[in-house]
Amino acid sequence: MSTAQPDLTMTPYQVADDTFVIPWVLEAPPVGLFPMNSLVIRGKQPVLVDTGSPADREGWLKNVSSVVDLDDVRWIFLSHDDRDHSGNLLAALEACPNATLLTNWFSVGRMFEEWATPLDRCRFVNDGDVVDIGDRRIVAIRPPVFDNPTTRALFDERTGVFWSVDTFATNMREPLSDSADLAEDAFRDGQLLGGRLVAAWHPWLDEGKFCAHVQKVQDLPIKVVAGCHTPVIRGPRIEEAFGLLRQLPVIEPWPEFTQQDLEGWMAAMSSG
Ligand SMILES: [Fe+2]
Ligand SMILES: [Fe+2]
Repeated sequence: MSTAQPDLTMTPYQVADDTFVIPWVLEAPPVGLFPMNSLVIRGKQPVLVDTGSPADREGWLKNVSSVVDLDDVRWIFLSHDDRDHSGNLLAALEACPNATLLTNWFSVGRMFEEWATPLDRCRFVNDGDVVDIGDRRIVAIRPPVFDNPTTRALFDERTGVFWSVDTFATNMREPLSDSADLAEDAFRDGQLLGGRLVAAWHPWLDEGKFCAHVQKVQDLPIKVVAGCHTPVIRGPRIEEAFGLLRQLPVIEPWPEFTQQDLEGWMAAMSSG
């Protein structure tokens, strides 16, 4: 039996004009891998969209620098303060001295438990707020599902790229950059796993109200969905992904792993 580790190395890849996913991959046995992406919009006023995970700080800065000159970065859009999105925020602010941080009051407050975000570099954006960044406008959007109350997604009006944050999270069996490479059942199962993990409160949703919000987001002229925890989603898979979200109010909760599972894994590991 081979003990070779899978190659999880991924390099930045372009998903639209001026727009690059900065990928990283987290092993999540026994369900496979989870993408842990951030994004760079390399327009007239370049934007970093989220700042990656602290466990990959060096790799993240190297990958970002490979697609944009950090001195040119004018904006850092922080979707929310979870560690996989804000983990390199201070490093990013230091490395990008000309960048303004697009965030919100609650997010800054929550981060104060660990660091003081420089308020003179902040600009607050709430749901529906528009920021003109020279050659395009970006819009802050409350995404359909989220695992942190401060969350704002981003819509780029010029390219039609929608940064969905934790919405459309999925596991995958191997590192992938495009959801089109997932088989139909793997795409469906992944979306339903990720949706239920992120939105553990889904059984209490009012189906009508939730689906109206899903529709409001879907009505944006979205051409490409990029998200922190999904390979890029395009074409018919976008409609499919929104359709799967609409199932959240009515499907059973995901059965969580138990202490018995943990003991089984530990026993298997100790026996080699
Ligand atoms: Fe999150
Ligand atoms: Fe996340």
